[in-house]
Amino acid sequence: MPMEPCQPDALPLADLDWRRLLPLVGRANAALARYDGMLQTLPNPAVLLSPITVNEAVLSSRIEGTQATLDEVLEFDAGIEAPENRRGDIEEVTNYRVAVQIAEAELDRRPLSLSLVKSVHQRLMQGVRGRDKAPGAFREDQNWIGRPGAPLERARFVPPSPILLPQALENWEAYLGNQEEDPIIQTAISHAQFEILHPFKDGNGRIGRMLIPLVLYQRRALSRPMFYLSEYLEAHRDEYYDRLLAITDDGDWQGWIEFFVMAVVAQAEGNLEKVRRIRDLYEEMRRRFVDVTHSQYAMAAVDAFFARPVIRATDFRRLAGFNTRVTANNMLRQLEAAGLIQRMREGAGRISAIYALPELINITEGRAVL
Ligand SMILES: Nc1ncnc2c1ncn2[C@@H]1O[C@H](COP(=O)(O)OP(=O)(O)O)[C@@H](O)[C@H]1O
Ligand SMILES: [Mg+2]
Repeated sequence: MPMEPCQPDALPLADLDWRRLLPLVGRANAALARYDGMLQTLPNPAVLLSPITVNEAVLSSRIEGTQATLDEVLEFDAGIEAPENRRGDIEEVTNYRVAVQIAEAELDRRPLSLSLVKSVHQRLMQGVRGRDKAPGAFREDQNWIGRPGAPLERARFVPPSPILLPQALENWEAYLGNQEEDPIIQTAISHAQFEILHPFKDGNGRIGRMLIPLVLYQRRALSRPMFYLSEYLEAHRDEYYDRLLAITDDGDWQGWIEFFVMAVVAQAEGNLEKVRRIRDLYEEMRRRFVDVTHSQYAMAAVDAFFARPVIRATDFRRLAGFNTRVTANNMLRQLEAAGLIQRMREGAGRISAIYALPELINITEGRAVL
């Protein structure tokens, strides 16, 4: 049982078996390039990728036990009340999404740094649950990973002592600026090292996963900082944790990197397929919205539903730029009658009706939920 705080390896690592890694890394870079090629052909990437970004926030939070689902979060966005016992989870996911947006915007102004990581953590931990988790501050105490409530003596993993932490973090930050390493290998190593350092009281897993697309983007392996691994990591959670543990228990960086690179291959292919289906749905909806409504607002209406797959009638009207309530409501009725959208809540008096684009939610979530 490891009860001594771990002594992290300095980066860059000295002895990787490049001969074994090279073919795998070649495959992963090729798969990632195919995915990125698809991103570059998207007509309206910010809008088309927005449901996938919400889904990543859901899945990354789920790895740590948060129960909220994609449709719950989208419904919450549209103003549908969540049951009391789900609100904390939904708030965590919502924070995650805002934190990602902050990170993406910052990255266009300055390189990835410890100070950026802290400001993103601050936003992630905002609100009721994060209050006592020292938002935005690196830890000054010893922490450990184990069963909930288990004492240090029965920890599975004990991160470095807080005395070593500042220097180890500086080494990690310097490594992020390293242009020589292969981008995917660099992403693999920087994610694991971040988890090993476990610099925050809580939120280390989520911040570490947010960094994955950011590192790839900074290294120009992606043209947008949008590539998500949490679906794979959640489906292989035990192996994910075991591979991290094997780094500090047995020095097995090689095994971790191979696991990570395989995850990139699988997700690049899976994400490519998902983005392709979303793009096809977008093209199809553009045709069908026009056919059904013959309206000058049809294209803007499609964009509104892709930006907000569950949406209040009032927000729909505003987002799609309608000049009157009557025209907007007429269009919603036509679309509903044609079976293209679904009414989630009846409007009454000053309460707005709520509509959804079920197919988009089902594709994003990878199963039929609506
Ligand atoms: N043995 C380990 N060594 C290093 N990191 C680990 C190990 N096991 C799990 N982790 C990482 O720790 C994360 C959980 O840390 P935590 O601070 O609770 O993050 P969050 O609050 O986002 O769940 C996991 O998601 C995983 O990335
Ligand atoms: Mg946690």
